[in-house]
Amino acid sequence: MKPKTRQYILGRLSSTSQAVSGDTLAQELGISRAAIWKHINALRKQGADIQSHAGQGYQLCSDFFNAATLQDQCSRHHCIGKYIQHFDSLDSSNREAMRQAEAGAKEGTVIFTDAQSAGRGRLGRTWHTTDDALAFSMILRPPLSPEKVPQLSLLTAVALQQSLSQYCADIRIKWPNDLLIKGAKVSGILTEMRAEPGLVHAVIVGIGINIKTPEQGWPDDISQAVTDLQSHHEKAISRLQCAVSVLKSMDQWYHAYLKDGFAPIRDAWWQTHAASGQKVRVHNGKSYIEGVAQALDDDGALLLSTQGETQRIIAGELELLEAQEA
Ligand code: BTN
Repeated sequence: MKPKTRQYILGRLSSTSQAVSGDTLAQELGISRAAIWKHINALRKQGADIQSHAGQGYQLCSDFFNAATLQDQCSRHHCIGKYIQHFDSLDSSNREAMRQAEAGAKEGTVIFTDAQSAGRGRLGRTWHTTDDALAFSMILRPPLSPEKVPQLSLLTAVALQQSLSQYCADIRIKWPNDLLIKGAKVSGILTEMRAEPGLVHAVIVGIGINIKTPEQGWPDDISQAVTDLQSHHEKAISRLQCAVSVLKSMDQWYHAYLKDGFAPIRDAWWQTHAASGQKVRVHNGKSYIEGVAQALDDDGALLLSTQGETQRIIAGELELLEAQEA
C-alpha cells in the first residue's frame, strides 16, 4: 500500500512544475494531510528534493531519478515503459532483464541501473557505465521469427537518434547501431534473445547513453573515440527527462513497427546513417572489406558495392573512410 501511495505522490509532483497542496494530495489519495506529510518525509529520506512552500504545498525541485516517476510518465504508452524498475547496481541490466524474462516478466518491462559491474557491449566488449550515464534494458516479446530480430536493433537506433537529437542536432547512426556525434560514440545498443527455431521467447534491448564525461576522464581500455551528450548541449540535461523521451520514442517506433513493418524504419535509418553512399571499411572478425555503403536490406545487413559486386555484410565493425563534417 505505502509504496503505491509514494509512487502516486512522486508521479503527481513530477507531472507539474507548480507546488501541489497537501490538501489536494490528501483528497486525491483519500488519506489525511498528516499521512501525506509522513510520506513526503519518507520520500525525502530516499533522496527526493521536495520543498514545502507555505500556503502552496509541495514541489519536487530537482531531477529525482526513480522508477515511480518514470513509470508515471510512460503510463500512456502502448507497451514500452509500462513496468519500470530502478536498481542502484547490477551485474548487467541485460542479464537482469534476461533473468526476469525467463521467469515470465511482462513485455514492456524496463530495467534501469545506476551502475554495472559487468556491463556488456557488442562483439564481447566491456561497456563502462560511468556516473550520470543511462543504462537500461527493455523486455520485448514480439511476434517475430528469430531472423527478423536484428530489425529491432535498427529500430532502437532510429528511436534513439530521434530522441537524442533534441540535445544535439548532429547525431548519426553508424551501422549497425552505434550513435555518433562527429564520429565519436555517444550511445550503444546490445540486443539479445531467447528463441527456438521459428519462435522468439524474449528479446532484450539494452541501451547505454553517455550523458556526461566522467571527471576523471574515460576509462583507458576504451578503444573507440567517445563523447557525451552534455558537451553538445547548453542547458543541463536531466537523466530522467532523457530516459522518458527515449522510452517514448521507442514505444512509438515499436508500435508502428508491429503495425506497418520494417520499411519506414529502414528509410529513417538510411537517412541518418553516417556513411550512406560513402566509402567504408568493415572488419568482419577475420578480414577487412572495403566498399561503398549502398543500402540496408530487410534483415539489417549492409549492402556494400565492392568492385562491381554487391557484398552482404551481416556483422562486423564499420569504419568510415571519408571525413565527417566538423
Ligand atoms: C555497444 O555499443 O557495444 C553496446 C553497448 C550496450 C550497453 C548497454 S548498457 C545497458 C545494457 N546492459 C549491458 O550490459 N549492456 C547494455
